[in-house]
Amino acid sequence: MGEKKMHRKYLALAGVLSLVTVTAGGCKGSEEKDVKNIKIGVTLYSQYDTFISELMTEFTEYAADKEESSGVAIKLEILDASQSQLTQNEQVKNLIDKGCDVVCVNLVDRTEPTTITDLAENNQVPIIFFNRELVTEDLERWSELYYVGADASQSGVLEGEIAADAFKKNADIDKNGDGICQYVVLEGEAGHQDSIVRTEYSVNTMVEKGVETEKLGYAIANWNRAQAQTKMAALLTQFDGKIEMIIANNDDMALGAIDALKASDIPKESWPGVVGIDGTDEGIEAVKNEEMLGTVYNDKEGQAREMLNLAFVIATDGDKSDIPLIDGKYVRTPYHKLTLENIEEYE
Ligand code: BGC
Repeated sequence: MGEKKMHRKYLALAGVLSLVTVTAGGCKGSEEKDVKNIKIGVTLYSQYDTFISELMTEFTEYAADKEESSGVAIKLEILDASQSQLTQNEQVKNLIDKGCDVVCVNLVDRTEPTTITDLAENNQVPIIFFNRELVTEDLERWSELYYVGADASQSGVLEGEIAADAFKKNADIDKNGDGICQYVVLEGEAGHQDSIVRTEYSVNTMVEKGVETEKLGYAIANWNRAQAQTKMAALLTQFDGKIEMIIANNDDMALGAIDALKASDIPKESWPGVVGIDGTDEGIEAVKNEEMLGTVYNDKEGQAREMLNLAFVIATDGDKSDIPLIDGKYVRTPYHKLTLENIEEYE
């Protein structure tokens, strides 16, 4: 048994009554810690988010595979914080009290991690934050805080490249023939690192690729398909026939825009180009059906696998050298462009 585990348990016995109580009933203490059993807690900002739910499906599958290959029983407890940071703080407390070896947190409010990081440090239970990135200073508050995600700027760059390539290759997109790409942006939640950075980098990349752009408008649709449909219907009316490109911060909002286009009287051949990010199942389908010009694959398999591997190593006091950690704390999976040209790799 590793020294760290003993230390962790010692602290639990010394100071945290609730953990000791639960430990006695369910989880193992340092003396009898059986690395044949580990417990991983997970709390999601919202179980209804398409990307998050697809990522969790992968995570659960990897956990089952790992259980089989390692012979270690892995108990997962996955909770939905229903977009409430207070609920999530409580959930993390309960997961720690129940004796989780590590907790994976998809923060509701990425600027409010301190209740969770304090709980983690006081109880010596490591936390892997994922997908909703906290600022570096917060992640550095304790050595056993990690982050698994991707590089937001890369997704913006690749999305901008897809849009620029399409605009340059396909004269039909430039409806008014002025050589300028009139676009609107559908943004995710205000304050989410991926909304801010993707919006900036996608458009800057189009310009760098030599496309002159004109922003007609934008709407915040919080990553959500139904909200995007409503907002896009309003934008279509407002800019009556002028929109040439719809740049969405994720696939669900791109799909919402397509829902609005389908519900409008605009014939498909006159639709604006639509680009997204994620490569969700339905996003890939929309690329295949040529409703979307392309998307940027957000590697949910890679993120799920790295998060599971990291959680496993932490919980079993294993060797972290196989985990591609940057600065000992971050794992970031690369994004990839996904268009009709390479779609067969993703089907
Ligand atoms: C994904 C979005 C998702 C969001 C949730 C982003 O990285 O691209 O689809 O809604 O994370 O935090």
